[in-house]
Amino acid sequence: MERKKVTPVDVQAMKKQGKKITMLTAYDYPMALLEDRAGIDIILVGDSLAMTVLGHENTLPVTMDEMIHHTKAVARGAKHCLILGDMPFMSYNTSEREAIYNAGRFMKEAGADAVKLEGGVGVKEIVRAIVRGGIPVMGHIGLTPQTISMLGGFKVQGKDAQAAQKIIDDALSLQEAGAFSVLLEAVPAPIAKMVTERLTVPTIGIGAGVHCDGQVLVVHDMLGLFDRFTPKFAKKYVNLGEVILKAFDSYIDDVRKGGFPEDQHSFHIDEKELGKIK
Ligand code: KIV
Repeated sequence: MERKKVTPVDVQAMKKQGKKITMLTAYDYPMALLEDRAGIDIILVGDSLAMTVLGHENTLPVTMDEMIHHTKAVARGAKHCLILGDMPFMSYNTSEREAIYNAGRFMKEAGADAVKLEGGVGVKEIVRAIVRGGIPVMGHIGLTPQTISMLGGFKVQGKDAQAAQKIIDDALSLQEAGAFSVLLEAVPAPIAKMVTERLTVPTIGIGAGVHCDGQVLVVHDMLGLFDRFTPKFAKKYVNLGEVILKAFDSYIDDVRKGGFPEDQHSFHIDEKELGKIK
């Protein structure tokens, strides 16, 4: 059966049908191709790109141009997943005009289907403006890595009643502003459950328990490709880092001992032609 491209409307329908939404990050063509082939619903070209692929300490340095470059590659690989461009630090909270312009770049230049941005009540007018411009927005609340200095580090959010109430208010204000979905990061599971029950739009959790309408993981965490820091909530499904290291070791060994290339990897010339060479 012909597979249809996933849209924000489909994702919202999945919540109503009680069908869990699957989301992973991807930053390049080969990973997007595999995620698309596996049947992932949403690919996030996350600003985690800054750390997992570009080697920065945190997500702040990644630029709009870098995000566009990687989103283009993902869009070439994933033809069925909903592609979300993650708006980098200072690309949307300076003015509504700049927010609409940059969200528009993700759609026009990079082939994204929607954007994600961090913040709750404080960015609701920005979300409203982007949505009014015809661009679907996913909100991101709880632990918001772009404001890590304000939060005092990578910590679980909403641990007391006041902080939990703020998360609920943030989620409701994003929904009211027109966000098609809300991502909850590092939030106690019972609070994520309350948010999920109160919202009509789907919640996507990362470190937010099993009651969210969907789950997201950073693909480098789940594949064991990023070991500088692994959050408690990241399940490692395979240790590709080790598999790759073993392959590199074998290659070094082969080259040094003459085990590579073998005959099958080499090109040949007719013996007669060889004999003619002076
Ligand atoms: O940038 C990112 O990878 C994220 C995660 C929460 C999935 O925003």
